[in-house]
Amino acid sequence: MHSITWNPEHISTTWFDSHFNHAANRVLDWIGSELDLNEANAMLDFGCGGGISTLGVALRHPGIEIHGVDIGDKFQQLPELAEEQLHLAQLPNNLHFHKIPPLQVLADDFSVDAVFSWSVFEHVPQSQIPLIFADLYASLGDGGVFFLQIEPLYFSPWGSHLRRFIDTPWAHLLWSREQLREAVMDYCGNIPPQHQGHQYRERDMDSFKRFHLREFDSLNRITAGGIVNQVRDAGFEIIREQRLNMDLEVPEVLLEMYQKEDLLTNGILLLARKSSS
Ligand SMILES: C[S@@+](CC[C@H](N)C(=O)[O-])C[C@H]1O[C@@H](n2cnc3c(N)ncnc32)[C@H](O)[C@@H]1O
Repeated sequence: MHSITWNPEHISTTWFDSHFNHAANRVLDWIGSELDLNEANAMLDFGCGGGISTLGVALRHPGIEIHGVDIGDKFQQLPELAEEQLHLAQLPNNLHFHKIPPLQVLADDFSVDAVFSWSVFEHVPQSQIPLIFADLYASLGDGGVFFLQIEPLYFSPWGSHLRRFIDTPWAHLLWSREQLREAVMDYCGNIPPQHQGHQYRERDMDSFKRFHLREFDSLNRITAGGIVNQVRDAGFEIIREQRLNMDLEVPEVLLEMYQKEDLLTNGILLLARKSSS
């Protein structure tokens, strides 16, 4: 193993910082509270996207093989981005990316100590979640851990993932789909830096807006309680859980249709373990 130099002082975008530092450190803190990271051999980042947080984990733990899997291939652009943001000459040898078809059986190819997923399971069709959780369970060795984060959840105030265009809480539950589309397409303000991700770099504004409307249509409606149940149903034991609650006044009309708890739960972080057999 040769050491690789990288310099976080060059990080210039909120997007890169929030993934390379915030997300990667959260993943490591949570997993590291249950697993000795100095003893771990391999980890899987399920739905790694552009791979920035995957890289953040890999650089901080060169002794662990880190595999990022995704149905897309945005991680192809990581070398260029890492050179720009970290002055990293090449990706580390312990970092591996794999483009997979949806529902590929990962347990056939991977045996890992930990799996993590950051902002992924609100994007997966709900019917596929039990199959994927069962596969992730099978990809872990006995005592292996699974860290999952989702934020925002669908029923939360900005659960549409459209806050970059619409600041009205619960607009997606209060307005028609057509009103939502018009508000997005008519938006002409700036995009907040924390939302200037991969798509913002790649697309013009019109295509960026259409991408996010399509993404909204594809979101599932899982709740915090629902995801916890699915993790348990796959055989995991929940070790730790944090629900991100909001303190906002909920419109009466929504309270008649939805659970108040779901409307005010912005996100969830959880850590689960595959019990030793
Ligand atoms: C919002 S992005 C998050 C990416 C990354 N985890 C991050 O934090 O930047 C969601 C990712 O989940 C991936 N994804 C959705 N369904 C998937 C599936 N069935 N298997 C693997 N990846 C999937 C998408 O391609 C996308 O890259």
